[in-house]
Amino acid sequence: MTTAPVMPAPVHFSAGTGHFALTNTTVIHASGSAQPVAEYLAELLSPATGFVLAIDSTGSVDAQSEPVTDSPALGAIALTVGNTALPSPGYLLSVTSTRIELRADDAEHLFAGVQSLRQLLPHAIESSSVQDVDWFVPCVEITDYPRFSYRGAMLDVARHFFDVATVKRHLDRMSLLKLNVLHLHLTDDQGWRIHIDSWPNLTALGATTAVGGGNGGFYSKADYTEIVEFAASRYITVVPEIDVPGHTNAALSAYPELNCDDVAPAPYTGIEVGFSSLCIDKDVTYQFLDDVFREVSELTPGPYLHLGGDESLATSDEDYLEFIRRATAIAASHGKALIGWHEMGRSRDLPAGTVGQYWSYVAPRDDADKRVASFIEQGGQMIMSPADAIYLDMKYASDEELGLEWADGPTTLHDAYTWDPAAITIGVTDEHILGIEAPLWTETIDNVRDLEYMVFPRIIAAAEIAWSPRSAHDWADFTRRLADWSPRLDAAEITYNRVNEVSWPK
Ligand code: ACM
Repeated sequence: MTTAPVMPAPVHFSAGTGHFALTNTTVIHASGSAQPVAEYLAELLSPATGFVLAIDSTGSVDAQSEPVTDSPALGAIALTVGNTALPSPGYLLSVTSTRIELRADDAEHLFAGVQSLRQLLPHAIESSSVQDVDWFVPCVEITDYPRFSYRGAMLDVARHFFDVATVKRHLDRMSLLKLNVLHLHLTDDQGWRIHIDSWPNLTALGATTAVGGGNGGFYSKADYTEIVEFAASRYITVVPEIDVPGHTNAALSAYPELNCDDVAPAPYTGIEVGFSSLCIDKDVTYQFLDDVFREVSELTPGPYLHLGGDESLATSDEDYLEFIRRATAIAASHGKALIGWHEMGRSRDLPAGTVGQYWSYVAPRDDADKRVASFIEQGGQMIMSPADAIYLDMKYASDEELGLEWADGPTTLHDAYTWDPAAITIGVTDEHILGIEAPLWTETIDNVRDLEYMVFPRIIAAAEIAWSPRSAHDWADFTRRLADWSPRLDAAEITYNRVNEVSWPK
């Protein structure tokens, strides 16, 4: 073992000799904020091992300053929250033949460390039924912390709807890769997917369609809360997106008064963009936004609300700027930090700190560069989602059935791995970057199998870009580790594209 069998690659890894044997008498020591992570770990290990590991929470609560050499009992796993003295919040994992010690600055990074521990176990640990395997963990030392604090995946539930069970499965996949933000693209021309009490027709009428004329669907408030709570149990923040003023045909078709001519358009089930706009001059538009932003904010414990703002091609420049000024002020009044696609940087009236999400792909990227500079000048940071590198809905290759090709042709695994967030736009370095996000738009995706096929393995590349230091990015090593991982993906019953860039085992 020369490199870590861990995805994304850790900052420092060294292999020792020997192994720790996990048995049904192994005790997990954890107290304070480490305890929920210990419960998660015990639950995670249970299906494949058949073990019901005991958790001992009698130790001291979170050790703020004790060294990492606190000695748990022999044969134990000790999870501790306390200062690691790393350059940014992270975790330290030490596996010896007699004990496993995992210490992190907070519960979120303890959870991340647990994902590394999980990946050191035999691949069969991912199985949902008891496997007859020696549960050996190789002796290693890992020192690890993320490059970026925002490591996201986006799911478009508007073009096609995905039910709560599918989203939870997706969240579990994300947590394996230390991704910690799920951005839900909840509204678009083809469907409005979250119930709003004060505007019930948004879902009664606006949720009944999908691309291609399928059945649509929406999240009740209870459904959405179930997603948010499940995500929180995986230390994942949900970012809801209400895309305005364009991408709004579903809302416009549900409420005639949101149209300048008071005539509701027909529901839309195609895949064109840029043809719809809320009516910029009407007060009812802003009442609508106030109600929607308030209700969505109330349901969302996370700090962010995403307002879209992309591809508003049916809104004049003047109207767009007026709209963004008013809409962002309303959204900010509900206590959320705002995110907008990079076009929102056309506005110089953004609430301070508004985050931009870069999705361009064309070269030269001048126009997008100007938008990015605008966010930064207004005190915001950037989320990098260059469409030709990290849009997971792009085809892997031209002859693939699923996906689109508009972002400069197909996106290979190599494309998804070999880019640097700090080398995309002029003047943007790590300090300006909040993180990265891998979007999955779903024009061509309508079931969980196809979803995972588009996502895996490119999302593993995205996770490594988001977490691992630039110096750890190594294409040859990555593809080797990925090949080694294929039995893990199989055991986890994840559908993935066996791209020909990787020498997968037979
Ligand atoms: C986008 O792809 N329109 C953000």
